[in-house]
Amino acid sequence: MADQAEKLRDLVEERAEEEAQARQVGELYLGVGENTRVIAITSGKGGVGKTNLAVNLSVGLQQAGQRVLLIDADIGMANVNLLMGSVANRSLLDLLENDVELEDVIEEGAAGVKYISGVAGVEAAMNVNRMEQKKLHRKLARCSELADVIIIDTGAGLNRNVIEFVLAAEEVLLITTPEPTALADAYAVIKAYSTYTDRRNIRLVINRIRDEEECYAVVEKINQTTKKFLNVTIGCLGYIYEDRAVIEAVHKQEPFVILNEKSPAARCIFELAQSLLSGEKMNSVSRGWRGFLDKLFGY
Ligand SMILES: Nc1ncnc2c1ncn2[C@@H]1O[C@H](COP(=O)(O)OP(=O)(O)OP(=O)(O)O)[C@@H](O)[C@H]1O
Ligand SMILES: [Mg+2]
Repeated sequence: MADQAEKLRDLVEERAEEEAQARQVGELYLGVGENTRVIAITSGKGGVGKTNLAVNLSVGLQQAGQRVLLIDADIGMANVNLLMGSVANRSLLDLLENDVELEDVIEEGAAGVKYISGVAGVEAAMNVNRMEQKKLHRKLARCSELADVIIIDTGAGLNRNVIEFVLAAEEVLLITTPEPTALADAYAVIKAYSTYTDRRNIRLVINRIRDEEECYAVVEKINQTTKKFLNVTIGCLGYIYEDRAVIEAVHKQEPFVILNEKSPAARCIFELAQSLLSGEKMNSVSRGWRGFLDKLFGY
């Protein structure tokens, strides 16, 4: 973890310097007062349920009356479109083409959720140059006009791309399963971010549990460690049951909240959506989507 922590430190220092410069020219707080909520979904270990949570929660929020835009930022392993049950013709990075505008890359998936597909198999995708970043920044800015909530499916772990999206987001959902390896990796993520972000913006979602008690036990286990070594407590937004309906829906390439809305996992998603909507926003001062982009692209 040592070299990853170092990379993270360098990245944050770089960003802090750029933000300080931007503040001087008055660019940074352009986004203040904007209401779009930006929620990044991440995990320590891969394969613990990020994409399923991102897709089904997006549908749940849309059904609850929110306009949702889901962005697949899992560079290299993009598969939101697979679970959305629609074919994506374009992806995020097509915005780099001069004649491609935001509307061209937005697809419509299940329940009318809008989404922007990621780029499969392109490892260097985010290593775009400064000019290209500016282009992406400008073209993505209007996303906030189209959505009340923007959900971002990031990759797992502490790669540079993941870190950038998580640090820029105002709210972060850290998903884990009860497996010891997943818990260890979730802790590593909390530890890495704890130095740099306001820890209150990270909340846990415990996936693949057998009963409610298991969720409480997992949250307590994580918090015993975070309290002891980091002196922080991480809140939990909710849980999702281990459920065959999830696996069946993945095979059918449809969100389980639509295919089997009464399944235990689907009910959990509806509860998570309600908790997000009824609970306090995590930060009182909202930077909104523009604030997110400013941070992501280092302005
Ligand atoms: N609640 C659940 N019940 C049963 N199976 C589940 C559940 N959640 C996830 N799975 C299984 O785990 C698989 C991986 O889920 P998903 O693709 O959402 O993980 P991920 O974190 O996005 O993975 P990656 O790190 O590769 O992006 C699913 O295809 C499904 O088979
Ligand atoms: Mg995924």
